[in-house]
Amino acid sequence: MLSHEDNEMLCRVGPGTPMGNLMRQYWIPALLSSELPDPDCDPVRVMLLGEKLIAFRDSLGRVGLIQNHCPHRGASLFFGRNSECGLRCVYHGWQFDVYGNCIDMPNEPPESDFKNKVKAVAYPCVERGGLVWAYMGPRKTPPPLPDIEVNQLPDGECLIQPSLAECNWMQALEGEIDTSHAGFLHFGSIMPEDTQEGTFLHYTVKDRAPRYAVVDTEYGAMYGAYRPAKPGYVYWRIAHFAFPFYTQPPEGVLGHSVITNAWVPMDDNHTMAYIMIRKNKDETGRPSRLPIQGTSHKYPSMQVPMLPNTTDWFGRFRPAVNAGNDYLIDRDVQRGQDNYSGIKYLATQDRAVQESMGPIYDRSQEHLASSDTMVIRVRRRLLAAARALLEKGTVPPGVDQPEVYRNRSGGVLLPEGADWIRDTEELRKAFVEHPEIPLQQPQP
Ligand code: FES
Ligand SMILES: [Fe+2]
Repeated sequence: MLSHEDNEMLCRVGPGTPMGNLMRQYWIPALLSSELPDPDCDPVRVMLLGEKLIAFRDSLGRVGLIQNHCPHRGASLFFGRNSECGLRCVYHGWQFDVYGNCIDMPNEPPESDFKNKVKAVAYPCVERGGLVWAYMGPRKTPPPLPDIEVNQLPDGECLIQPSLAECNWMQALEGEIDTSHAGFLHFGSIMPEDTQEGTFLHYTVKDRAPRYAVVDTEYGAMYGAYRPAKPGYVYWRIAHFAFPFYTQPPEGVLGHSVITNAWVPMDDNHTMAYIMIRKNKDETGRPSRLPIQGTSHKYPSMQVPMLPNTTDWFGRFRPAVNAGNDYLIDRDVQRGQDNYSGIKYLATQDRAVQESMGPIYDRSQEHLASSDTMVIRVRRRLLAAARALLEKGTVPPGVDQPEVYRNRSGGVLLPEGADWIRDTEELRKAFVEHPEIPLQQPQP
């Protein structure tokens, strides 16, 4: 459990909050490049760390992320005219470039130099791997981008699935570093006899109470969840948390799986989850995310239907199956033998439990067990880093070390008694290919 004060410090990310200050030390995924498809295209409302911002692509193709309220008298720049290398407020025609400079003030006399004194808040943006990254921090020269492998794949090899979660970012993130829920929420109705011997899933459902090993790392924390596999072997699920809000879940095969998820706080009560995975290079083109998409209806569906985007602050990437329709829970299905939760889609199963905790769960009420070891560790690291920044100005982990993000996660069988950290060192390195390892676990 956490005290009320620690819970507040952990969850709140607005300007001036300790965790908000911590996040602002890093580059933040702000939106997809494809949301701004062309020069002078429609601007997009973006809520980021509790700040209302307008994203636009100017005539030269540069991306700007500017304060919502026009510095003149506060009209929303969302309604601005995007042309001639700037966003022009429709109220009195003031025009701003991607750096926030006022480049035209047509309602003032030509001899006035007032426009040189007015500046809008605008955050530096760069594009890489289909994401627009923004730096909202205090430095004049931003730090380097983190060396996240999935975000640096050749064009077309990365699948990005953004989706809105209507809860605090930490609640969503914690759902992903808690391995034991998979054996219940997602696969609770799958019995060992439903699965093929030798698959990761077989071992998962044979022993639903894995043991955990958790270690601090220079980028955050790593866990290995382990349980018995075939005679003489142990099935290890190895996963990472990286500052400030990334997870690399233990999906797929360690050494092949290239995946990083970003749990980006829009505000304290809304999160944009960016699931980023490398598509497999086998003939199916199937993402390497899950080796468990069998034909049986016992397996959760992966493709969550989405609502069309709107221009609302929270109108982007909304799942159609959501709290408003009770995630389409089917009680008859739940009563049967086929689906533990009665909720059809895997990601929806996660959302249902995470959002049902409320926008910000009061963690003073919880009862943490040994399966929550990684959750406890990650909270501790985040709180310690936020405090160190607040009290001593300590730069948090990874900000100036982009190379510490070069990691992979996944599942692996190791001989009993193996040293899980030493013996997976090569497999955990990003940007290294392993043709000697089968690409996929056998399908169930
Ligand atoms: S409020 Fe924007 S130009 Fe006046
Ligand atoms: Fe899950």
